[in-house]
Amino acid sequence: MVEVKETAWGKINIALNIQGSRMDGYHDVQTVMTSVDLADHLSFSLREDGKIQLEMDNSFLPRDGRNYILQAATLLQETYGIVQGANISLYKKIPVSAGMGGGSSDAAATLRGLNRLWQINAPLEELARIGADIGSDVVYCLYSSTAYAEGIGNELTFLPKMPHCYLLLAKPAVSISTPKVFQALSLESLPICEVQKVREGIEMGDYAEICHYAGNDLEPVTTQLCPELLRIRKTLEKVGADAVFMSGTGPTMVGLFKKEQKAQRAMNALRGFCKEIYLTRPVHQRRNEDE
Ligand code: C5P
Repeated sequence: MVEVKETAWGKINIALNIQGSRMDGYHDVQTVMTSVDLADHLSFSLREDGKIQLEMDNSFLPRDGRNYILQAATLLQETYGIVQGANISLYKKIPVSAGMGGGSSDAAATLRGLNRLWQINAPLEELARIGADIGSDVVYCLYSSTAYAEGIGNELTFLPKMPHCYLLLAKPAVSISTPKVFQALSLESLPICEVQKVREGIEMGDYAEICHYAGNDLEPVTTQLCPELLRIRKTLEKVGADAVFMSGTGPTMVGLFKKEQKAQRAMNALRGFCKEIYLTRPVHQRRNEDE
């Protein structure tokens, strides 16, 4: 039996500015994203009856049309008139509702995986057009390559890979609703970080510049909903993280470290009160299938 495997990398916003709200209910953003080696794993095998069957090791995810994997599979099937179906298995590692684009990355991995399984062989750029209809981070996750993004977050400019560093991720035991965070945002108080400087920092390979300007306009909003973020921030600062910021709409907090030993110390300091902690490295996956 033919089986195709895909890795769905987690995404981290190193800097996120909210530019304003739009008529379609979304917000225009400017953000710099990278991927990390905390990933979900998906496998795909062929079904001749045309059905899409999803098996997951996570009971928190929806099993209906709200599931991004099912949306991606159905949309791909419809777009290319595919008569075959697929059995899909998901092994979940990326925390759910964490601001790490886990659902979007699973959708992106599904587009890549089924593109191979069904021998559609569409280029990533074509899959990106389908991905854009599913969620704003899906296009980025198709590439999982360090990038600057505008629009609702899916107009990408690729950047060089992040300089050598460790990203310590700390997720409090709450799930945050993405629309709720955007709704609670007051546009008057913005911006609180400088995305363009972070972009330049990555372009120049200047780690200090990246650390100095990293941040997230949404962090104060999510901190209001989840005050525990403040304790995580203070602990990471006290231990000497080079930068501390929230990813996406949170609640995952990130400590950036050049030195692994320091990141390990921060892990120990967080352990007493934060259950989900991950020591990760940046991943710079692909810009193109051929690269
Ligand atoms: O990315 P996704 O499409 O899953 O976004 C979920 C929700 O987050 C949207 O329905 C919208 O309320 C909010 N959002 C936003 N602006 C963005 C991205 C998401 O307002 N750029």
